[in-house]
Amino acid sequence: MDDGRRPRHIAIIMDGNGRWAHSRDLPRVRGHEEGIQSVREVARECARLGLIQLTLYAFSVENWKRPKREVEFLMRLLERFLVSEREEIEENNIRFAAIGRLHELPSFVVDELNRTIEMSKHNTGLTLCLALNYGGRAEILDATRRIASLVREGKVAPEQIDETLFERCLYAPEMPPPDLLIRTAGEMRVSNFLLWQISYAEIYVSSVCWPDFRREELHRALEAYSKRVRKFGGLQETNVEG
Ligand code: IPE
Ligand code: IPE
Ligand code: MG
Repeated sequence: MDDGRRPRHIAIIMDGNGRWAHSRDLPRVRGHEEGIQSVREVARECARLGLIQLTLYAFSVENWKRPKREVEFLMRLLERFLVSEREEIEENNIRFAAIGRLHELPSFVVDELNRTIEMSKHNTGLTLCLALNYGGRAEILDATRRIASLVREGKVAPEQIDETLFERCLYAPEMPPPDLLIRTAGEMRVSNFLLWQISYAEIYVSSVCWPDFRREELHRALEAYSKRVRKFGGLQETNVEG
């Protein structure tokens, strides 16, 4: 596959952990645990393929609505993941990052996040970004507040607010927009994920639940992506008349 036909940045809405567990008569949280294996395998494969970024939706601002026990389990699982995957991150030259209202996460998560980010900051391969306590609307609001402060301080005039400035105020200004947005477990919705950044992403929905989404499924998505024609509002070259 030539590089033009391969996405630089893949973003994934990892869904269906609960359904995976339910179909096996297991508690929901077993699905979350099994999903970690998919994270490892998919991240390793994206690193091997030389992609620039993989962004995984791990916890939304709306997910606090879930039962307290499930939320607590997810936070502890995240803490465990951040510690246990450090070796894997190093071995694969992965730079770890996170986006979201991170300061609202429990301090034991924030501490491990910071350690993993710090430890991997000089790595030069794939950027693995976890979206945690993330909401697309929240991100747009947070950027708007930052711009409003700049205007109030007299550093920016309202006429200077353009897409470039707006992007500089998002959580990860350096991230390229996702080329491919994958959602697992069949749901046809974006659930408040990267609302600004996915404006021209190709969408691929897999019926497979996240714990079963492994290397082979990733390649299916890449194969589908390679056949898409991206036009960004323009015309395909063959349709351009003189
Ligand atoms: C995705 O799986 C994981 C998170 C949102 C944290 P779900 O827990 O949403 O699984 P389903 O959708 O109930 O099957
Ligand atoms: C989206 O999954 C959020 C994450 C994957 C973290 P949800 O399961 O929370 O989304 P809805 O509720 O089905 O839209
Ligand atoms: Mg779900």
